[in-house]
Amino acid sequence: MFKELAAVYPGSFDPPTNGHLDIITRASKLFPKIIVAVTDNASKQHMFSLDVRVALLKEASAGLSNVEVVSFSGLLANYLEKINTFILIRGLRALSDFEYEFQMALMNRNLNKNIETIFLIPDQDYTFLSSSMVKEIAALGGKTTGLVPECVEKKLHK
Ligand code: COA
Repeated sequence: MFKELAAVYPGSFDPPTNGHLDIITRASKLFPKIIVAVTDNASKQHMFSLDVRVALLKEASAGLSNVEVVSFSGLLANYLEKINTFILIRGLRALSDFEYEFQMALMNRNLNKNIETIFLIPDQDYTFLSSSMVKEIAALGGKTTGLVPECVEKKLHK
């Protein structure tokens, strides 16, 4: 168990997938508290509103007592400073994630030298999964069973 009280798992989660949930579950076993921090990613056009994404993550992680889901706006580094927590969790699915994640981790550290990013590897069943693919499959009438939590599946097919 790490000494820090909380770690933050940030993301846009549009929508949350079973891969995200796998990372949340793994992180919840390492830290006393996990704050899943949902925000808008300026480079993406989101399908679900921030409030809906927060509600879906709350429902999907309801069984994990040390997980809290919140939303934030603005710079992640500023949000971490505000809540006085400096450990970030991110998932690494494949080598292709590395460059983006590496850049983001270093930029966050550049903004605040206290920030450490810890990378967790999801179950291999989820290494091919992405939120965009899930949206595309749902939009084209395909099945998303097993890819996303049940509450997300219901919302996608509405
Ligand atoms: N399982 C399945 N998919 C995963 C995954 C996992 N374990 N980990 C990542 N992904 C996928 C997601 O499905 C998503 O796919 P998509 O590109 O098809 O949507 C993609 O990888 C990453 O999305 P996600 O993890 O939800 O978040 P993000 O990369 O959109 O989040 C922020 C980036 C929000 C953390 C970043 O933009 C940020 O910090 N913004 C705040 C502003 C800021 O501080 N900017 C400067 C940053 S240095």
